[in-house]
Amino acid sequence: MAVERTLTILKPDCVRKNLIGEVTKRIQEAGFKIVAMKMTKLTEDTAGGFYAVHKERPFFGELVEFMSSGPCVPMILEKENAIADFRELIGATNPEEADEGTIRADFADSVGENIVHGSDSVENGKIEANYFFAESEVVANKA
Ligand code: CMP
Repeated sequence: MAVERTLTILKPDCVRKNLIGEVTKRIQEAGFKIVAMKMTKLTEDTAGGFYAVHKERPFFGELVEFMSSGPCVPMILEKENAIADFRELIGATNPEEADEGTIRADFADSVGENIVHGSDSVENGKIEANYFFAESEVVANKA
């Protein structure tokens, strides 16, 4: 299987609930290597740019407001089959539909406030990683 990268964001609800450590622990225990990580607070413009693909959706305003409501923690993760494996680890977008034991089933309150983002393809993972990180901020994590 190919080594892939996925972009995750520990969203403002994850930070507010003091779950950065718990969620990061689950990510690392599932075999993902963190190759880039920062804490940042998105503006409405940067949140809207990240989610531009959803700008015609009825929930876009709510999504932008929530994602710019407090600090978040974007990370680039590396692993074989990272895209699919990460989506399995976090569970369905709507926590009510997420499998038992997934991050969203355990911690998310709603489809909007769902703790983490995960890229949906290798191609989008690259675009999303580039949205948050310069090449110089990405390290080769051999740990
Ligand atoms: P994410 O994986 O970050 O990508 C798009 C986000 O839009 C998604 O997680 C949800 O948090 C959000 N989203 C999707 N559907 C809805 C909805 N019906 N209402 C509010 N937010 C939504």
